[in-house]
Amino acid sequence: MKFLEGIGEVILKEKVCFHMPGHASSRIFSELGYDTLLENIYKIDTTEINGTDDLHNPSGLIRDLQKRISKTYGVNESIISVNGSTAGIISSISAAIGPKDKIIVDRGCHQSVLNALIFTGAESIFIDAKIRDRGINYGVKTDDAIRLIEENKDARAIVLTSPTYYGIVLDIKKISEIAHKYDIIVIVDEAHGAHFNFSDIMPKSSVSLGADVVIQSFHKTLPVLNQCSVIHICSDRIDVIRLRDSLKIFETSSPSYMLMGSIEIGLDIAKKYGDERIKKNVRSIREVSKEAENIGFTTFIGDDGLRLFISAENFGFEGKAFEKILSEEYMINVEMSNYFGCLFLSTMANNEEDYEYLMLALANIRENLDALKRNYGDESSINSNSSELIERLIPHLKRDRKLSLREAFMEESELVNIEKSAGLICAKSITPYPPGVAMVMPGEVIQKEHVVLINDYLRRGFSVYGVSDGKVSVVSR
Ligand SMILES: Cc1ncc(COP(=O)(O)O)c(C=O)c1O
Repeated sequence: MKFLEGIGEVILKEKVCFHMPGHASSRIFSELGYDTLLENIYKIDTTEINGTDDLHNPSGLIRDLQKRISKTYGVNESIISVNGSTAGIISSISAAIGPKDKIIVDRGCHQSVLNALIFTGAESIFIDAKIRDRGINYGVKTDDAIRLIEENKDARAIVLTSPTYYGIVLDIKKISEIAHKYDIIVIVDEAHGAHFNFSDIMPKSSVSLGADVVIQSFHKTLPVLNQCSVIHICSDRIDVIRLRDSLKIFETSSPSYMLMGSIEIGLDIAKKYGDERIKKNVRSIREVSKEAENIGFTTFIGDDGLRLFISAENFGFEGKAFEKILSEEYMINVEMSNYFGCLFLSTMANNEEDYEYLMLALANIRENLDALKRNYGDESSINSNSSELIERLIPHLKRDRKLSLREAFMEESELVNIEKSAGLICAKSITPYPPGVAMVMPGEVIQKEHVVLINDYLRRGFSVYGVSDGKVSVVSR
């Protein structure tokens, strides 16, 4: 049982969890007494037999669960996706637009949005997301979104990401008001905001700010198993029948009662304990941030107060090395690292002990810099200034689109060495991961600045989707 043993070993080693899914490696279930319910969850892994229900045509237990979700979130209707927000986003976009339609899209979007554009073939207008200060994605600016809506009044839909991976929330209310003047459907990827509804100190969810469709990954910020997402229908602007038909294309036909059962558990926990636990976590995050700044780290807290970005740049450690030190020396696992630091994702599953331990670890790193540098020296030294590279190159990246995403994806393509790719048309997205935001999209010309940045990402140990064995896929011409 090598696979099970391998994963088990990783989890067993972990002392503190600041990453998804939002049950902190299942610890909240035992802490709150839900573990007996979960111990036997595999026993409900059945199929559409008499009395269960049909995922794509719910009329019983699944329909009732969805009704309870929609009541909790105050929306017209909620539809579960057991294939994550990925299937939810592709289905929602496919329901909103056709091949001859125009759609305005946040360029900082998740891969699934681009895949929906490839599938639909719609004309896409992109709004640049602002990546600033240590690679943090601030999302699109309200003014930029409004300007593009005014310039494209004939667009059928707009897709926005709020909050961003770093917890930045957009002004969905303002953008929706303008979009609706022209009957443009507002779709919000709120994958990282399913917890907003459970505390009055959280930002308001897009479900109550005028968005028409909101997709949330319950598993990211609620104590719910991976892959559980919900599509909330908040108005009559979207054709729900078409959305359900689209889900039949992109989601498995097999119902997972285990996953859906975990949604019920997660909602129960969130309703009973969410507010109190969120408030405690927000307080603790502020304390950690203050303490970390006092000893020389640089920090940033997202709009919900639960995403903490810590950079150890001042001590000469890049994000990847800092992540490795936290994991290997202190058994603390974080959500991700970028060039500059690590993103700690806190959920209602975290408790005070996690923060106390994190503060001890940070202080310990500060005290043992010399030894850590010896051990993590090669990979950690910031030898070419990353901030400078990003600041120098990113604002000057040209967006030179020659083909639509669909055309580029469907055309004959070939693999070329990345060094020889400048000037060629990208056939498959080139996406540094995490956070999974495409640097070059299908149909765009690869620039020499992209090549420099991609090589730099690879050299620093990041995965770049779309690059394999130093080759990228380009349209054959
Ligand atoms: C902004 C955003 N949207 C959508 C997704 C996809 O979510 P899921 O894992 O539920 O498919 C992600 C995943 O990381 C994401 O970060």
